[in-house]
Amino acid sequence: MTSIIFHIVLLAIFAYLTVTANPTWNPSTNPYPKVHTVDKTYTYRSAKQGGNVTIPDPYNWLEADLHKDADVIKFIDEQKNLTETYLEKCTEKDAIKASLTSAFNFDDYDNFFFVDGIAAPYYTYSLTRANENRPTWYVCTPEELEIARQNNMATPPGKKFLVEELLSQNGTSNMKDWMNSPDGKYFAYLVSESNSDMATWYIRTIDNPLVNATTFPPGGEGALPDVIPFCQGSFKWSLDSSGFFYVQTADSDAGANTESGSSVRYHRMGVPYENDTTIVHPDPIASDGRNNNWLLMLSKDGTWLILVGVRDVLRYSKVYATFLPGQTLSDNMKWISVAPSYDFKLSPINVVNDWLYFSTNRDALDGKIAKAKLDWSKARQVSDVNTLKDSIDFVDVVPMQPSIMLYTQVALSDQFAIIVHIVKGRYKVQVLELETGRIVHTAIPDSSSQVTSITTALKGKSVNLGLSGTLSPRTVYDVRWNGTAFEDVLFTVQKINGVDPKDYITEEVLATSKDGTKVPYSIVYKKGTQKDGKCTAWLHTYGSYGVVEKFYFDETYFSWFTSYECTIFVWSSVRGGGDEGAEWHIAGQRQNKTKTIEDVVAIGQDLVLRKIVAPGQIVLEGISAGGMAVAAAANKAPQGTFGVVLPKRAVLDFFLRRRSTGGSLQIGEFGDVYDPTDFDTIIQWSPLQNINKTLDYPAMMLIPADSDDRVVPAHSFKYLAQIQALRPNNSNPLLMHLVRFAGHSTAGLSAQNRADEGLHQLCLISLTLQQKRIN
Ligand SMILES: *[C@@H]1O[C@H](CO)[C@@H](O)[C@H](O)[C@H]1NC(C)=O
Ligand SMILES: *[C@@H]1O[C@H](CO)[C@@H](O)[C@H](O)[C@H]1NC(C)=O
Ligand SMILES: *[C@@H]1O[C@H](CO)[C@@H](O)[C@H](O)[C@H]1NC(C)=O
Ligand SMILES: *[C@@H]1O[C@H](CO)[C@@H](O)[C@H](O)[C@H]1NC(C)=O
Ligand SMILES: *[C@@H]1O[C@H](CO)[C@@H](O)[C@H](O)[C@H]1NC(C)=O
Ligand SMILES: *[C@@H]1O[C@H](CO)[C@@H](O)[C@H](O)[C@H]1NC(C)=O
Ligand SMILES: *[C@@H]1O[C@H](CO)[C@@H](O)[C@H](O)[C@H]1NC(C)=O
Ligand SMILES: *[C@@H]1O[C@H](CO)[C@@H](O)[C@H](O)[C@H]1NC(C)=O
Ligand SMILES: *[C@@H]1O[C@H](CO)[C@@H](O)[C@H](O)[C@H]1NC(C)=O
Repeated sequence: MTSIIFHIVLLAIFAYLTVTANPTWNPSTNPYPKVHTVDKTYTYRSAKQGGNVTIPDPYNWLEADLHKDADVIKFIDEQKNLTETYLEKCTEKDAIKASLTSAFNFDDYDNFFFVDGIAAPYYTYSLTRANENRPTWYVCTPEELEIARQNNMATPPGKKFLVEELLSQNGTSNMKDWMNSPDGKYFAYLVSESNSDMATWYIRTIDNPLVNATTFPPGGEGALPDVIPFCQGSFKWSLDSSGFFYVQTADSDAGANTESGSSVRYHRMGVPYENDTTIVHPDPIASDGRNNNWLLMLSKDGTWLILVGVRDVLRYSKVYATFLPGQTLSDNMKWISVAPSYDFKLSPINVVNDWLYFSTNRDALDGKIAKAKLDWSKARQVSDVNTLKDSIDFVDVVPMQPSIMLYTQVALSDQFAIIVHIVKGRYKVQVLELETGRIVHTAIPDSSSQVTSITTALKGKSVNLGLSGTLSPRTVYDVRWNGTAFEDVLFTVQKINGVDPKDYITEEVLATSKDGTKVPYSIVYKKGTQKDGKCTAWLHTYGSYGVVEKFYFDETYFSWFTSYECTIFVWSSVRGGGDEGAEWHIAGQRQNKTKTIEDVVAIGQDLVLRKIVAPGQIVLEGISAGGMAVAAAANKAPQGTFGVVLPKRAVLDFFLRRRSTGGSLQIGEFGDVYDPTDFDTIIQWSPLQNINKTLDYPAMMLIPADSDDRVVPAHSFKYLAQIQALRPNNSNPLLMHLVRFAGHSTAGLSAQNRADEGLHQLCLISLTLQQKRIN
């Protein structure tokens, strides 16, 4: 029965395509630039072939430095010319620009951090005002905040403290992390150039703002001489604010090479960082080229330092603990081994009365909260924690709930912690009382938003939550202890130009994937939209690492969604994501990776089958591993399923991913190209190696970023060269937009850069799908 319907749909799609070739694209008048090939090959072992397989890599030369190599520079210039020449046809350009500008028209309040427990408590927060490029950080008193709060933050409370645009002359530096000192005196901030993963910690005093600048030294005017380069995060002030613990990746030549390992060090304020005390050295590199990275947790009372080693994005961990009082910091301290091998995940929350509280997936696939007693009499003095092999018994605090994944957890005080579960793709934020294991509060029962930030007060019992939804750019709540209970206190709800999320409906739908599995997806549409098979959908997907990517605001999505008639926004829960629990993640992991791709295709087909959208009227878009999924789906989907495919910062040559920075961290999730069995799976889906020469592809725009050190832009360059060579007469354009001064995450990108990226996508969609514009 199902298969008959399926075939009818395919025929219908095909008939549709043959009548409407893309009127804006003519392959003979828009030839792709000529791109030369080289003889480069790579050899891998295959279990299926029982021996070696050699893969040609004719565009390998595009892996060279895009800022220095003349051939690569020429390739980029010619592709840019092609894209820009084509987009000159975009008659809606001005309307799109105006719509994107208005999508930035809200005050983006975020990162409220309460520095309490001091004589003059204060808040710091970040604010990107309507149509500003980057955030400005503010300092305000609780009284100022309360007055502003009662007025929906119409006027920002307090005083400007740090204008991010002043961190460099050209405005390309941004802050990735920050941490106020416990005494309230210092503000530590992690600055990166063009949002590179590798960044530098700077410190300034809270009474020395950066709001006017005439010079642009690194860290901005007025930064203290305490500067820590080669960092990615994991920073803890000591309780007396005299210094801090930090994790530093090996410097010198290694740069951002995470495989080279990391050290844990301590910096005393006022001492040059070269003189900082190393507490834990990097592990030696393992025979498979893998290494671990250290992460840090300091108990709320500042006494216990917990060290977590992870060697992979899956965060299977080894964990050690040291009690700081009475010890001199050195690389030969006393340690307790909590969990010495990478047998399960363990993520520490806090230590209270010598009990270490943490989340773990040991004997609990979906995760649970447990505790372990730290017995300091068992500690041993060692120069290498790896020599410790003891493990400690666990006691359950909050048991696992099947298919409801424990997503994250943060200490709130010695008494409470915040825990976040994923229930059918939606966030559930709760307050847990550690000692009793009781859930004492469930925050904000609004489940159609994503929680984008969770910031607990420095010492007290409050946590600030930043939320974002498909149609609501920012909502901020404080969850506060009032002496007897927790209460949700609304700081602000931001809307855009009168668009009210209440005018929209969210519906849950199930698609049937190739193997029969039911795959959930959510459709969002304006009340009154006729779902009569004539609408257009934007399908966003991800499907890796157990991550949930649903229900958040993006100005490009919003602009498209609210500018045309009959639009449907689609959030997917494909396998590989954590939407339906840890099993769901595993079902799209490693040797199951093709399931993610089949699920994406199935949702595309289901949207047409259910007459939610017209055949071919689907924009398929994904970022990073999601970009990989959409490109792979474009290779595998029946012709005409998708209209436009947008792989952003996408992993497109998985063999290159393994060779580049951080590649070994991906093995647990995607497999290892050097493993003969994994090789046989990866070669079936890696997008570059699966371009179909006889398939008429949808319009595509690859969107890499020039300073992306995680997924290097060469992924997109090589894929583009290959698909253009194999499909010179493709009826839809195959193009690229390289984003300048941008790294892997869009979080650090300026508003201007984001708007330009949006314009490129929306013009391609406008030219290809010919939708009817309403504003
Ligand atoms: C097969 O490939 C592996 C890995 O690339 C290489 O080390 C080995 O020498 C090759 N063996 C043969 C017989 O070519
Ligand atoms: C851009 O394309 C146009 C038209 O094809 C051509 O005349 C021009 O020389 C190109 N510019 C560059 C820098 O390639
Ligand atoms: C912008 O400034 C930063 C630091 O001041 C520098 O590293 C970077 O190269 C500059 N970028 C451009 C495009 O000038
Ligand atoms: C910054 O400059 C503005 C005008 O240029 C001035 O009004 C303001 O007082 C200055 N602020 C500080 C902290 O110097
Ligand atoms: C830093 O270490 C060097 C070499 O051990 C030493 O000469 C110097 O005095 C130290 N500086 C400080 C400020 O401790
Ligand atoms: C604290 O919050 C609870 C729950 O909202 C409420 O019932 C109680 O009256 C509040 N107590 C105080 C002192 O505000
Ligand atoms: C593939 O997914 C199934 C569940 O669908 C799971 O049982 C199996 O362990 C997974 N295999 C791998 C290699 O992850
Ligand atoms: C390539 O695309 C053609 C046309 O849609 C299709 O018939 C063929 O099966 C595809 N090949 C592969 C390997 O998927
Ligand atoms: C593309 O079209 C041109 C002109 O119609 C033709 O000469 C060429 O052979 C075609 N290329 C392919 C790969 O079909």
